[in-house]
Amino acid sequence: MNETKIEYKQLGDNTIVNITHSLFSAQISLFGAQLLSFTPKGKQDILWCSSDAILDGSKAIRGGAPICWPWFGPSADGLSPQHGYARISKWKVVNSDVQDDQVTVMFAPEIEASLNSELSLNIEMVFSSSATITLITENNSATTHFITQAIHTYFNIQDINKVHVPELSNIDYIDKTKNGVIKNDPQLIVQQEVDRVYQYDKKSLTIDAEGYYIDIKGDYHDSVVIWNPWHEKAKAMADFNNDGYKQMLCVEMANTTPVKVAPNQKIKIQQTFK
Ligand code: BG6
Repeated sequence: MNETKIEYKQLGDNTIVNITHSLFSAQISLFGAQLLSFTPKGKQDILWCSSDAILDGSKAIRGGAPICWPWFGPSADGLSPQHGYARISKWKVVNSDVQDDQVTVMFAPEIEASLNSELSLNIEMVFSSSATITLITENNSATTHFITQAIHTYFNIQDINKVHVPELSNIDYIDKTKNGVIKNDPQLIVQQEVDRVYQYDKKSLTIDAEGYYIDIKGDYHDSVVIWNPWHEKAKAMADFNNDGYKQMLCVEMANTTPVKVAPNQKIKIQQTFK
């Protein structure tokens, strides 16, 4: 018999939704609608969260699966927050559905139209032995908009030295650490700061950590961003525990080329992992 529990826990000014189900446990922060932890039954947490992460709602949480929306990276005006404002806004649960084999939770901004008056974002999370995050953007205006976006997931790995992502071998990438030069490597190995936008729109990826695997699937993305700050940049970030870079790799399903959202159109981006 399934004994699912959905509980709300207060952490400073932040509310965390805790879900326990026979197939998994999950924790979602309502600040950012950010999945922080996802542990399928019998496995370790698939997500990495910095032990120095700031959880009081004053800053985007360093870990889990932050939502970058309605832009990825620096803002066009250079004044608005990096990666948009979804990850630094408050969200609410608008619907949840508990089944024996999965739990679905829908999130909307706590204050409707607080993110953008002409575009709305709703976030669906479906949990079973895998977790799926879907961002659904709708254009409620008569004007065409363009957005970039990403599901910026921090994966929990034992040892960065053992990790590679075979599907990204020989795929062109923009190297953000080298002023955006286009490169191509026979194998993705992380032995220094890595900040890359891979031109990869296929659905499947694997984090292969010599015997430990994370299966990742994406949909509606045009690229996959791979990020690890390595030790100097990690040290420079107050919310990134100094040795944390050894245990994480961000693999982000992204639309880095602006996507058109016509009046009344809905667009999606999705990431699944297990
Ligand atoms: C990645 C970017 O997606 O996010 C990097 O490609 C950036 O350039 C990283 O440094 C972390 O961003 P932030 O704003 O969470 O520190």
